[in-house]
Amino acid sequence: MNSIEIDKLMPDSRQVAVVAVVCLQWGDTGKGKIVDCLADWADIIVRATGGANAGHTIQLDDKVFVFHMVPSGLLHKKTNMIGSGVVLDPRQLLNELEVLGKAGLPWREYLKIAYNAKLVLPHHILLDHLRETEDDCLGTTKRGIGPAYEDHVGRIGLIVNDLLNVQTLESKLKAALKEKVRLFKTYDQKIIKEIMDLPALNSGRYYSPEDIIDIETVVKDYASYGKQLSYMIHDTDSFIKESLYHKKILLEGAQGTMLSIDHGTYPYVTSSDCSLAGLAKGAGLMENDIGVCLGIVKAPYMTRVGRGPFPTEIGGNSSASWCNSNAAIYAGHHRTVKEMEADEYKNIVYEEADEFRKGIWIRMRGDEYGATTGRPRRTGWLDLPLLRYAKKWNKNGIILTKPDVMSGCKIVKICTAYHYNGIRYRFGQNELSAENGSILTTAIPQTEIMKDCSPVYESFPGYPDIRSARSWSGLPSNFKDIVEFIEEKADVKVKAISVGPKRDQIIYL
Ligand code: IMP
Repeated sequence: MNSIEIDKLMPDSRQVAVVAVVCLQWGDTGKGKIVDCLADWADIIVRATGGANAGHTIQLDDKVFVFHMVPSGLLHKKTNMIGSGVVLDPRQLLNELEVLGKAGLPWREYLKIAYNAKLVLPHHILLDHLRETEDDCLGTTKRGIGPAYEDHVGRIGLIVNDLLNVQTLESKLKAALKEKVRLFKTYDQKIIKEIMDLPALNSGRYYSPEDIIDIETVVKDYASYGKQLSYMIHDTDSFIKESLYHKKILLEGAQGTMLSIDHGTYPYVTSSDCSLAGLAKGAGLMENDIGVCLGIVKAPYMTRVGRGPFPTEIGGNSSASWCNSNAAIYAGHHRTVKEMEADEYKNIVYEEADEFRKGIWIRMRGDEYGATTGRPRRTGWLDLPLLRYAKKWNKNGIILTKPDVMSGCKIVKICTAYHYNGIRYRFGQNELSAENGSILTTAIPQTEIMKDCSPVYESFPGYPDIRSARSWSGLPSNFKDIVEFIEEKADVKVKAISVGPKRDQIIYL
């Protein structure tokens, strides 16, 4: 990205020291590409929340890498930082660094890890898996994210620096496991053994039939991970504060605002605050330090992976149960859901398809399959009530992503409001009810309300292929009408439009 383009995104780019990229939906909006475009501008690129639940695919020449722990800016040969807000799985990180090393890509001098990032340990992964065996589970990525953050706020968590001090590691691990082992023993031990045998838990290496977790082996392995990571471990809170105003800092958000533990569709959220405030804090900064925040919005379709309310889901409950159950049915089988759908639904024609099939068509066209779990992402129409809500937790302009996926469709839809059609429900001073004809123009992210909201749509005539457009004037008028409608109805400023996966397929406005 050259400096003229940067100027368009940031009104006075010379004054801006920190830029944040945050998703305003449920994640998977294509932040990675925007971070990649901005990485040229930045001196330091920071990941500050979440952990190995994130997944980004990076293509370099003919090689495709899928990373979860490694910050997506690491291939830019710039300082990359994993901040204190992250839950770090050291085993996963080292595996990814090994892949980079084998591909001959340099990273050693570029990565700094917060000494006080939170650790994801085997018992967190076990607990996450166990919870996901229940019928009323949340549909997590099973990477141990929730349990690791729970230990942190429960004051029994371990931090990265504990890997460097074997005695501390052992005593803190013992303390953290005291209650957990009691809990683990109440489960069916056959299931415990099956989970402990998974590759995610080093194929049984940490299993102890008596104590469930073999503390000695965990301490031995994790101390060795600590040795390998030791020269990357820093006081990054001080480093980032010292870097402010003489370095350009790019904060790479993880997941999305609607998955934020504080602002999302609780309890169907992740366990970190994925909004701007959480990102700043996790990086060791304050919200005021951030000059520009770019909100990423997939449009005119959007997605969600895992369980939870999704009012504009195309195909409604049929889509939700298909996407959530398939993950389980096909996990561990030879064929991925993506391969299975590509095969079984190859003849779908969008205009003729019923809603359920339409959702699958969009998923296949947009390649909407989770990079971490391979799960099919649920597809729906752009939800303006949700955007009006999510923008409150962020600031500045938005970037629209993936509109090219819907090129050539005769009609596209955008949700402008919700019609509440559930039971009488008190929300503060107000009472929502179907009889009252309650209409919500801004989402209230309470699952009890969202699950009974049906979308009010506005339909738009479709637009031809936009992938080769490189300027506003090069875009078809039908598409420009949609962009202007989003700006006006959600009171947002569209700063850029990504019209394809490649770096140059972006229009700065
Ligand atoms: P967890 O973060 O693994 O605990 O999962 C909690 C919820 O967040 C689940 O619905 C996940 O599908 C969702 N989630 C976590 N990480 C991502 C992501 O990177 N993209 C989209 N959804 C995610």
